[in-house]
Amino acid sequence: MASTFGAAQVLVASNRGPVSYVKDDDGSLRAKRGGGGLVSGLSAIGPDAGALWVCSALSDGDREAVRRGLGEDGVRMLDIPAEVHSDAYNGIANSVLWFVHHMLYQTPLEPVFDAEFRRQWASYETYNRAFAEALAEEAAQGAAVLVQDYHLTLVPGMLRELRPDLRIGHFSHTPWAPPEYFRMLPDDVALQILRGMLGADRLGFLTRRWADAFTACCERFAGGLGDTRIGVHGLGADPDFLRERAHRADVEERMAELRREIGEGRRAIVRVDRTELSKNIVRGLLAYRQLLADHPEWRERVVHVAFAYPSRQDLAVYRDYTAEVQRVAEAINEEYGTEGWRPVVLHVKDDFARSLAAYRLADVGLINPIRDGMNLVAKEIPVLSDQGAALVLSREAGAHEEMGEDAITVNPYDISATAEALHEALTLSPADRAERCKRLAAAATALPPARWFLDQLNALREGS
Ligand code: G6P
Repeated sequence: MASTFGAAQVLVASNRGPVSYVKDDDGSLRAKRGGGGLVSGLSAIGPDAGALWVCSALSDGDREAVRRGLGEDGVRMLDIPAEVHSDAYNGIANSVLWFVHHMLYQTPLEPVFDAEFRRQWASYETYNRAFAEALAEEAAQGAAVLVQDYHLTLVPGMLRELRPDLRIGHFSHTPWAPPEYFRMLPDDVALQILRGMLGADRLGFLTRRWADAFTACCERFAGGLGDTRIGVHGLGADPDFLRERAHRADVEERMAELRREIGEGRRAIVRVDRTELSKNIVRGLLAYRQLLADHPEWRERVVHVAFAYPSRQDLAVYRDYTAEVQRVAEAINEEYGTEGWRPVVLHVKDDFARSLAAYRLADVGLINPIRDGMNLVAKEIPVLSDQGAALVLSREAGAHEEMGEDAITVNPYDISATAEALHEALTLSPADRAERCKRLAAAATALPPARWFLDQLNALREGS
């Protein structure tokens, strides 16, 4: 499907691609295109640049599309067997590597590295090899290959062996674990990951902190970085896209609905996340509850608008977390709600237009992850907020490196301090809030997606 037969000059490889296929009732397959930084990045190099995106089929619809030979120009989807993909994606990438880099394990029960883990690790190798082989087939002599994320850490090393002529980059969209946490992985697996990554000419990270952690792991466990170069590219928000999209009619409609849910004259504390353990949604709710307990003057005058969209629902721990978020939100509403005031407005059905509507209405944005590679919500709220939102921002989010000065910083574990930070955010003077918000928006858009992508491509090609 959509092979370039060895002619691609720029290749991107990622687990999730720019398109997915949904099966309609009549059996026909409909292509749905997604957005995001990589999509804008690739479109910035133009349609004639010989670019190809290699990604994995993720659903039955995708697999059927590959088998029927359906394809989009510039995309090659790999039909990796569903069990292999599930072991690699759910088992290794999302239950092990994601947990290590976000430091999410809860001892004494986790992590478990046993025979089942070894079986899944073999699938992760198979899945990485399928990508390396497809890239080796598609790439033109000397082409640039940009491999994405923790799903594909072994690809650079495997591809280097198959095609020493290529320029290979890898970019991590997550944090990187410090050596003391990374060493939790079985020694041979840890080394294989580091060596796999070091097969690249250049490795990109979202912040200096994550790049330093990776370097420290290499120094401790792999004898250093060797010839591999390291770059920091802090992906920013895309202001033109966001502003245009957020002023369309569907967003205005959602704003009217949300205003009704919030109620006349009330402040809105907004959060929008995947229902993701690292996003720390439950502690955010508990901090809001403590705000209502400690500062009764805010009762009836504020609403917590929390959007928690389903994610990785194949994993029991994510399903349990989704249920816990709902339980805590309901408990707060029962404890504090009154006739005309629902303290928490929780939505769990993914709706991009409604997210943008909430960004525009926000008085305060709450972004309190335990650890986060960057966090684009922290960047999108200041760009879109109509009245200049204040940000309560975790010091453990990558975005904090660029936006910490004008946000109100929190330790994400500290519920009491987060409650006080919410109070402080709500009491900033409108002028102060507007000034901060302007500076936050400037920091948030310093490196929009197209430049973020081109900077990496140029650095890879120029050897810088
Ligand atoms: C993180 C990863 C991305 C991934 C996203 C959504 O941000 O770094 O690569 O696309 O999560 O996760 P999912 O498992 O739904 O692809």
